[in-house]
Amino acid sequence: MLIIGGMFPIHFRTIPEKEPTTSKPVSPKCEGFNFRGFRWARAMIHAIQEVNNRLDILPNITLGYHIYDTCFTTSKTVEGTLAYLTGQNETMPNFRCSAGAPLVAIIGAGGSTLTIASSRIVGLYYFPEVGYASSCSVLSDKYQFPSFLRTIPNDNHQSLAMAELVRHFGWVWIGTIAADDDYGKYGIKYFKQHVEKAGICIAFSETIPKIFSREKILAVVETIKESTANIIVVYSSDIDLSPLMEEIAHSNITGKTWIASEAWITSALIAKPEYFSFLGGTIGFGVRRGDIPGLKDFLLDVHPDNDASDDLTIEFWQTAFNCTWPNSRVPYNTDFRINVTGRESGVHPVSDQLCTGKEKLEDIKNTYLDVSELRITYNVYKAVFTVAHALNNLDTCVEGSGPFQKKSCAIIYDFEPWQLMYYLKNVKFTTFDNELVKIDENGDVSASYDIINWQLNETGEISFVKIGIYNDTNDGHEMKIYNNSIFWNTPTLNPPRSVCTENCQPGTRKGIRHGVPACCFVCIPCADGEISNETDARECFPCPDDYWSNTLKNECVLKEVEFLAYDETLGTTLVALSLFGACIVLSVTIVYRMHRDTALVKANGRGLSFLIQLSLVITLLTSFFFVGKPEEWSCQIRQVTLALGFSLCLSCILGKTIALLLTYRGSKLKAAEKHDHISMQSLHQKLLVLISMIIEVCICTAYLTCIPPYVYKNMEFQNVKIILECNEGSIEFLCTIFGFDVFLAVLCFITAFIACKLPDNFNEAKFITFGMLVFFIVWISFVPAYLSTRGKFKVVVEIFAILASSFGLLGCIFLPKCYIILLKPERNTEEIISGKATTNDKSAPSTSASCTSEVTNSTLSTMVLDE
Ligand code: TRP
Repeated sequence: MLIIGGMFPIHFRTIPEKEPTTSKPVSPKCEGFNFRGFRWARAMIHAIQEVNNRLDILPNITLGYHIYDTCFTTSKTVEGTLAYLTGQNETMPNFRCSAGAPLVAIIGAGGSTLTIASSRIVGLYYFPEVGYASSCSVLSDKYQFPSFLRTIPNDNHQSLAMAELVRHFGWVWIGTIAADDDYGKYGIKYFKQHVEKAGICIAFSETIPKIFSREKILAVVETIKESTANIIVVYSSDIDLSPLMEEIAHSNITGKTWIASEAWITSALIAKPEYFSFLGGTIGFGVRRGDIPGLKDFLLDVHPDNDASDDLTIEFWQTAFNCTWPNSRVPYNTDFRINVTGRESGVHPVSDQLCTGKEKLEDIKNTYLDVSELRITYNVYKAVFTVAHALNNLDTCVEGSGPFQKKSCAIIYDFEPWQLMYYLKNVKFTTFDNELVKIDENGDVSASYDIINWQLNETGEISFVKIGIYNDTNDGHEMKIYNNSIFWNTPTLNPPRSVCTENCQPGTRKGIRHGVPACCFVCIPCADGEISNETDARECFPCPDDYWSNTLKNECVLKEVEFLAYDETLGTTLVALSLFGACIVLSVTIVYRMHRDTALVKANGRGLSFLIQLSLVITLLTSFFFVGKPEEWSCQIRQVTLALGFSLCLSCILGKTIALLLTYRGSKLKAAEKHDHISMQSLHQKLLVLISMIIEVCICTAYLTCIPPYVYKNMEFQNVKIILECNEGSIEFLCTIFGFDVFLAVLCFITAFIACKLPDNFNEAKFITFGMLVFFIVWISFVPAYLSTRGKFKVVVEIFAILASSFGLLGCIFLPKCYIILLKPERNTEEIISGKATTNDKSAPSTSASCTSEVTNSTLSTMVLDE
């Protein structure tokens, strides 16, 4: 006979002893009968019986068991471990003086913290311990726990799976709650590690105290209540979690979705129908389940009469039926509990009702008998079989090809713990439902979880619905979730959302806030000219050159193009004015043409007058090139035509004024040679016009070929608009061509001013001086006006200057003459024009105060006759 030890939490806790110093310290008593733990223990017995009955495993060897109640506390666990090692109920380490059958291995010890404690001790002796529920990742550390192996997957897988689940549903703002033990802390630690890599934030991290403390639990409840996180991940055993859940139900905290670890996902302690409004929809991971054949019958086959010496059975019976077993050695009922929630205080009295022994287990609903979710129970079963298979392998070893020194084998009734460890580490077997159990070098098994969702069934109970699976595969892991079968405990029955800050809409970007998790950001609107077109954009992108952001900042739109268009009022007005001017000039030409033989028209050169009229038409009409969308050609043509127009106009005027001067000088010199002189003048005039035109044309050609003007999209002044304008290419050239005009204008002015002093009846020089003054005033004021305007108004200013100067010249040079021609034809005689006759009519526009200093009835003529 070989004995397997088993450690199970058959009670929830120990009863705290008061003042242990006044009396001999004794092992504390336990309270709170744990039906689930009892089932686990019974499953172990069942498995051992199965092994004993089987012919293929350990055929000639009977297995026995020795079960110890850990009461879910470390002290009891350590005590039990030592009891195993010593073989006695006295706990003296280093001796094993038991007359009984040898102990081969321990199954246990339940929760990870307990296992860590017990495994550290048995590890000293390299004594095998097979865990069935201890999932904490540190237990895989073979340096610390050399003799530990388990049939439950390492929690690292579960933490990763939880992180994956959270990511799957897009939750980014999560609260965590851990039991204050190795299981909870390591589980949450790895969960956080995985989750933070995915950019998910932890809203709060709380721990549930191991020793009941109402204040601490209320603090946790308060945190949950205040947090905006709707998803709460809980890594805790059901025993530790139940007081918190009671308080949650009491505080009526709804709207949270709970993510459960394997230790409480299928626990009847938590999955109470009355909690459904708070906990419904909980999603969690359950280890692989298995329906152990024959277990239900075995569980039912428990009765205090069968084995009256078993205190646990009597206690089970008393607790299950709430009665007292007659003359039992178990004096207390299980509900000797300090009320966990602290709300009801006091001790439940022992039930007065005596147990009859006729109570029917089939009639009651009890966790012990619930075989619908055999997960940890199945692990217990697998643990027993692991040991049994290892023993079997040890037993079937053939001497001469054994694994130990000199190819020897171990002897089944007298082997060392490390020899069994060798076989345990190489165990590989399949269970009744074809699950392959294979312990790896770290003592772990491969991970396989069911994803479970809490739903309410027709009978008003919580059912654990499998909504997916998570499997560890050779190359990573696979997770499947059947979204349609999930029940969500939200008003809309849709998956809950859990975010700290709602998404940033397009047009804004995420801005970090200092001192808060990255998931709690602010949405900052994009700056002008920048956009973001996706939700939760980290950055805003600037729009391309010709584009600008719309008001929502989610799209780049083409910038508005600004130029002086024909169809806007200003454009139309200016064009109309220039047309009007051109018409006036044309009518002047017609008048001149009709009266071409009159003295006034003939005087001072008919040709020049026509040229001046032509140039005025040209300058006036150049405004057409300034209005409208600037194009390459219009940009090139506009300044050049203007400059040419002006130089034609000014050179003609200069010709006139020089002629006036020369006539005066000539007549002074030699009155007789006058006629010759005059004919020379006419030629000179044309030459002058020709030369100045050639010069101007040359400069203009050079300008257009070397550095021509081009269309320029000006975006410097306004972001929202593109100002379409002409860039003049070379300012130097532009200054040169207009500088030449200015030069001509200055010459005109000087000569005209000098000529003013000449005695002349008609005083043309005065009008020219006046016209030139107007010209100067217009263009001088043009410069600052032009420089201080932006956009299309620059063009407007220039057109104004063109129109003003053209109208000025037109008005000063031609209007007085037309006045005489049309309204005072009696003065339009050669005598009067040439000053040979006096006129009394002083109303003629010939008087100019500044220029008439020397006006006398001079005989000198400033008339230049046209040939
Ligand atoms: N996995 C838990 C741990 O390592 C133990 C555990 C699993 C458990 N299932 C349980 C504890 C059910 C109590 C009840 O600590």
